[in-house]
Amino acid sequence: MNNKRLIIDSREKKYLLNRDVENFGNDMGVVDLKEIDDGSYLTTHKGGEFYVLTPTIHDIVKKMKRTVTTLLPKDIGLIIAECGVENGELIVEAGTGSAALTIYLSNAVGKEGKVVTYEKRPEFAVVARKNLEIVNSVRKNQKITGFEEEIEEGTFEEKGLYNVIQKIGDVTDGIDEENVDVVVLDMPDPWNVVPHAKKALNKAKGRIAIYVPYVEQAKKGVEALKEHGFLDIKTVECIVRDIEISEKGVRPSTRMIGHTGYITTARVCPERKEENKFVKKETLE
Ligand SMILES: C[S@@+](CC[C@H](N)C(=O)[O-])C[C@H]1O[C@@H](n2cnc3c(N)ncnc32)[C@H](O)[C@@H]1O
Repeated sequence: MNNKRLIIDSREKKYLLNRDVENFGNDMGVVDLKEIDDGSYLTTHKGGEFYVLTPTIHDIVKKMKRTVTTLLPKDIGLIIAECGVENGELIVEAGTGSAALTIYLSNAVGKEGKVVTYEKRPEFAVVARKNLEIVNSVRKNQKITGFEEEIEEGTFEEKGLYNVIQKIGDVTDGIDEENVDVVVLDMPDPWNVVPHAKKALNKAKGRIAIYVPYVEQAKKGVEALKEHGFLDIKTVECIVRDIEISEKGVRPSTRMIGHTGYITTARVCPERKEENKFVKKETLE
């Protein structure tokens, strides 16, 4: 998988190119990219200006191939923050979709952590894997694995990429992992996964996040969380307004994304044990 680089022209149009591309041009002119380092300022034969930069993971996600609607940064950031995702944690996610959320979760838990992502449609998992591979190719100082063999649909179950393990299957059938720190669900019927999540989550610090576009789904999700004894249940919608700042003045953009989805977060509640029913007198003193 080819490493990428980012070209931005002086109109701020962005291009993600394979690093081995030697010439690049648009209506502003052409530049020779041979032996050009990232961080260079190039002038085209027509006097146009191109900036050669190292892409961030966010640049890659914005340009990557999509099989389904991906979560937006505003919702991803909120999930990560509300769940308090930490370096080194084990996350189980479903469904993978195009792997946008997977990529940021994988970033948040880092090399010491792990994201196990379930997807029931093998053809979506193939695209997600390619997206994960591109992200890995721009990650610094990290061993890239999993590129050795050609991928055939459905044959790469449980082959790891950096800290991501892809699983092809229906997550409503169950979660294989134990002692999971966070379960994140972006799928149509998350309530059917709540009992499995309850079983898989770490009893002391397990958290769950559910993202759904419809309020009826959010309600069913909350009902399932209540039924299975989750605590701290909270549902939010995140609305972001762009602000335009110009010489003329400052105002919100006249266009905005009106709605994406509802995010419900919760944490596991410890199970009540019979022997703990009464507080011993001496512990009260
Ligand atoms: C909205 S997309 C997820 C998008 C993803 N979060 C992203 O940012 O790219 C929902 C995905 O869940 C998958 N899915 C739906 N039900 C599933 C199930 N029961 N088990 C596993 N995957 C499922 C779908 O095939 C689809 O790819």
